[in-house]
Amino acid sequence: MKKLRAAVNALDKRSHINREIYGHFSEHLGRCIYNGIYVGEDSPIPNTNGVRNDIIEAFREIQMPVLRWPGGCFADEYHWKDGIGEKSERPKMVNTHWGGVTEDNSFGTHEFFNLCEELGCEPYLAGNVGSGTVEELADWIEYITFDGVSPLADLRRKNGREKPWKLKYLGIGNENWGCGGNMRPEYYADLYRQYQTYCRNFSGNELFKVAGGPNVDDYNWTDKLMSIVNDWHAKAISLHYYTIPTGNFESKGSATKFTDEDYYKTIKNALFMDTLIKKHSAIMKKYSDNMKLIVDEWGCWYDVEEGTNPGFLYQQNTMRDAIVAAVSLNIFNSHSDIVCMANLAQAVNVLQALLLTEGEKLVKTPTYHVFNMYKTHQDSELLYSFTENQDTNGIPAVSQSVSMSKDGKITMTFSNASLDEDFEIECDIVGAAPKSASACILTNDVRAYNDFDAPEKIKPADHPAEITGSSVKFTLPKCSVVSIILS
Ligand code: AHR
Repeated sequence: MKKLRAAVNALDKRSHINREIYGHFSEHLGRCIYNGIYVGEDSPIPNTNGVRNDIIEAFREIQMPVLRWPGGCFADEYHWKDGIGEKSERPKMVNTHWGGVTEDNSFGTHEFFNLCEELGCEPYLAGNVGSGTVEELADWIEYITFDGVSPLADLRRKNGREKPWKLKYLGIGNENWGCGGNMRPEYYADLYRQYQTYCRNFSGNELFKVAGGPNVDDYNWTDKLMSIVNDWHAKAISLHYYTIPTGNFESKGSATKFTDEDYYKTIKNALFMDTLIKKHSAIMKKYSDNMKLIVDEWGCWYDVEEGTNPGFLYQQNTMRDAIVAAVSLNIFNSHSDIVCMANLAQAVNVLQALLLTEGEKLVKTPTYHVFNMYKTHQDSELLYSFTENQDTNGIPAVSQSVSMSKDGKITMTFSNASLDEDFEIECDIVGAAPKSASACILTNDVRAYNDFDAPEKIKPADHPAEITGSSVKFTLPKCSVVSIILS
C-alpha cells in the first residue's frame, strides 16, 4: 500500500468554520416538502405538527445549522400571504417551475419557522423579487419579526404566534439572472438596493442580507453586482454551482449507472468549486474586504430516476455522491475566510438529497453520512494541513481538512477519490499532543447506494487509527471517506 505523508499545524489557525457551511436547502419542489418533510398532521406517519418525526431526528443528528426555504426558482413565484391562516382557506397555486402541480400552501411561514425552532437551526428565507413587490417582502419581515402592535404583527398573533421569530438570513431573490427574472446584473443590483432598503430590523432582530450572486463562472455578474451593491447594502452574495457529470444540462447522466470515466469527470467537476470560489472572491475583494460568499445551492444533478416525474428531480445517491460531498465540504472549510454558508441541494427527495422517503420508509443516503461524519467541523477553527498527493485520472486522489474545536479536539476529514489505490496516511501533528484517536470510515463500491430494501448497505463503521508520538497513522482505502477526532 502506498504511504502518503501528511501534516497538521495546530498552532496555525487559519479561519473560523461557520457552522452554516453545513447548511441545507428545502424547496417546494417534487417531494422535498410535501410527501417528504411535511406529511400533514393527519398522516399515519408519526409527525410533529405535520413534519415527519424521523426526519426531525435525522436533521437533529447532523446538527443541521441552517435551512433555506421556500426556493429556489419557486421563491420568485411564492406569495407568503397565501401560506398563513386557516389551512382549508389558503389559496392554491400552480407550481409552474416544478411539474405544474397544485400547491395548496399548507406548508407556509408558521410551519417553516416552527420546524426551524424544533431543529434549533437558523431559517434562511429567499424573498420574491421576480414576481413580487417591495411591499410584499417588507411585510413578510414585519410579520415574522415585529414585536410591537401593527396590523401584520397582530395578524401573526391571530394566526397563533404571539412572539416574533428571529430571522437572520434573508436572500433578496434567487437566480435573478435566470428563473428569478432573467435580469441583467445592473438592473438586479439596483432592484436589490431598493428591496433591501425596506427590509427593516424590527424589535432587535438583525437581518443578514444576501444579494443574488452569479451562476457558476459568470464573473461579469459578480463584478457588476459588486460595483453597485456594497457591504453597506449586503453582507454576502450567493453563488450557485451544480456538479453535472457530463457538464451538460440536457443530458446529465444517470445517478447509479455510470462508467469509471464518468465518475472521474464528476469528481473533477466537483473540484471546480475551488476555482470558482477563488475567482469570484478575488473579484469581490476588489470592492470589499467584508462581503462574504454563500454557496446557497450546490450538489450533484443527474437525470431523474426512470418512471419519476421529470419536474420532481428525484435521484439516487451513491458512494460517488459521498465523495463529492466530502471534497466539497473540505473545499468550503478551506475557504471559510470568505465562505460563510453553503446549502446542499436539497434536503429530502430532491437532487443530492440527505434523505429519501417512500411512504413510511426513510433512507439515509451516503451524503447524509458524510455530513454526520463532518459535523464536528462546525464552529471550529480551520488548521493548516497538507497531504502529499497522488494523481488519479487527472485529479488529486486525496482531499483533506482539519480543524480544532473550542475544547481543543481536532477533527480530520480525508477522502480518497481513487477507485483502485489504497493509501496509508501518516500525519504529523505539530503544536498539539493528542492522546486518543477515534475514527470512522464510509466506504463501498462507488456505484453502491442505500435503498428502501437495503437502507443500511452504506453506513459509517469504526476505523483503526493509531497515535505514535506526535503522529497519527491510518489507512485511506479506495473510494472512502474517513473522519478522525483527536483528543
Ligand atoms: O435546486 C433546484 C433548482 O436549481 C432551484 O430551484 C434553482 O434555484 C436552481 O436552478
